[in-house]
Amino acid sequence: MRHLIDSTDLSVAEIDRVLNLADDIIRDPAAYAECCRGKILATLFYEPSTRTRLSFEAAMLRLGGKVEGFSSASSSSVSKGETVADTVRVVGSYADIIAMRHNKEGAPRVASMYSPVPIINAGDGGHQHPTQTLTDLLTIRSLKGKLSGFTIGLCGDLKYGRTVHSLAKALSRYEGVRFIFISPEELQIPRHIITEVLEPSHQDYREVRSLEEVIGELDVLYMTRIQQERFLDMAEYERLKDVYVLDPAKMALAKPDMIVLHPLPRVNEITPEVDNDPRACYFKQVKFGMYVRMALILTLLGVKNQLAPVRAEEPD
Ligand code: CP
Repeated sequence: MRHLIDSTDLSVAEIDRVLNLADDIIRDPAAYAECCRGKILATLFYEPSTRTRLSFEAAMLRLGGKVEGFSSASSSSVSKGETVADTVRVVGSYADIIAMRHNKEGAPRVASMYSPVPIINAGDGGHQHPTQTLTDLLTIRSLKGKLSGFTIGLCGDLKYGRTVHSLAKALSRYEGVRFIFISPEELQIPRHIITEVLEPSHQDYREVRSLEEVIGELDVLYMTRIQQERFLDMAEYERLKDVYVLDPAKMALAKPDMIVLHPLPRVNEITPEVDNDPRACYFKQVKFGMYVRMALILTLLGVKNQLAPVRAEEPD
């Protein structure tokens, strides 16, 4: 049984197949409308979410399946002390697949050791968010036409931002991706991602403090929120919260075909005026998230659509 806990749990060929399937669903959603008839997705969200939970739910409903779950630990028996292991053993006897978000890093990995059905990590603490990465990859591939040979700037809270960790790991496996990490020293990308991921894969990377200094080099700018909920020291959060604000003046320094992505929610890091810039693609990005989650559910459940176009399979 396959789970998706880390963005590198899928090979590059498997990611390409998921993205290809998402493209097929975008082209002909009606062909997939009955694929999960009789199947149930459980959404176990111990931490708040808008996009990930609702897009998973929309994905399963659009595939003809049903959804059950909870959106906070306080509304489930977790509040009585039930463990993750026991919870997924129980829920796995009702549902066919589980999407789990947890504030503790590693909780979905633990869940996968006990669950009788596939577990999808929908974000664990400041660690990983692999389905956001699939969303980001589908967005970049759709809007830039490729996943190799481009320069990406990841800007903001690179320490606690799980979407950045997952995306950097995934992109490190594509050729010729140049990474520019833009953060204050306090929120720099974890050293293990540099030493265990980027250096072994010989990717070109650099770390800078100023967005203005590098924005003109970027093909993709990936803005992130400063993750207030992960700070132990609120004074430090207050000091850093507006360290990067993307506004029309900074956009004027960027290439005409750069795209701006953001996993959302945003707070102050992109001003509303930027939303009208055709290079602002973060609201397109969210829709790709639903389609890629449809593709992932079909993949992990092993559901084949007889009506779908057949593609030549690449080796893993
Ligand atoms: N991008 C993302 O994970 O958003 P939510 O926290 O709203 O799910």
